[in-house]
Amino acid sequence: MVYLDHAATTPMRPEAIDALTAALAVVGNPSSIHSAGQQAKRLLEESRERIAATLGADGIELVFTGNGTEAVNLAVKGLWWSRQGSGSDAVPRPRILVPAGEHHATVDTVEWLALHEGATVVELPLDELGRLRLDVLEAELARDAASVALVTMLWANNEVGTIQPVEEVARLTARAGVPLHVDAIAAYGQLPIDVHALRRATDASAGGIRDC
Ligand SMILES: Cc1ncc(COP(=O)(O)O)c(C=O)c1O
Repeated sequence: MVYLDHAATTPMRPEAIDALTAALAVVGNPSSIHSAGQQAKRLLEESRERIAATLGADGIELVFTGNGTEAVNLAVKGLWWSRQGSGSDAVPRPRILVPAGEHHATVDTVEWLALHEGATVVELPLDELGRLRLDVLEAELARDAASVALVTMLWANNEVGTIQPVEEVARLTARAGVPLHVDAIAAYGQLPIDVHALRRATDASAGGIRDC
């Protein structure tokens, strides 16, 4: 059999299996103060630094989750609630801008927010190659950026591999002062990802706004 569906699941490299197997043998809760716990904590934090470096990020910026669906829920719902404010600072921002053709992890999350939190999900069309139409995004942001809670999109499509113009989108959202969430699950390991470089590029275009 020739296995070709790496977008859905890539077979693990033998060295990754070896590293995981070795890590599973380390006993100890990283929150414990005894030596076994501290050994587990060291392994966890060293791994966090090494993985963050592959993303152009600092270890402190990396939050591990159990899977991709959990990460998408954390990011999209977290951004949604943080953008609504609370108490006397409550600012309703009902719109979530989402390209067509997103992964179900995102589709289900924004549908949940529509059903339970009153979000208005605005689907953005794709061009003939499956890329987000930047002109439509720009027009939606220009129409009323203050009503947009967030923009969320795939970096690379997990089924057909289309790569989205993430830097251009990040520039547009930063200029509009709207946070952007990018699901890079299918891009990580296939494309160079440097979140600090992306932030520098968007900072420059936003004239100092840092809201991604
Ligand atoms: C682009 C993308 N987002 C989200 C997910 C969901 O990840 P998980 O299956 O780990 O929950 C996947 C899974 O393949 C994916 O390819």
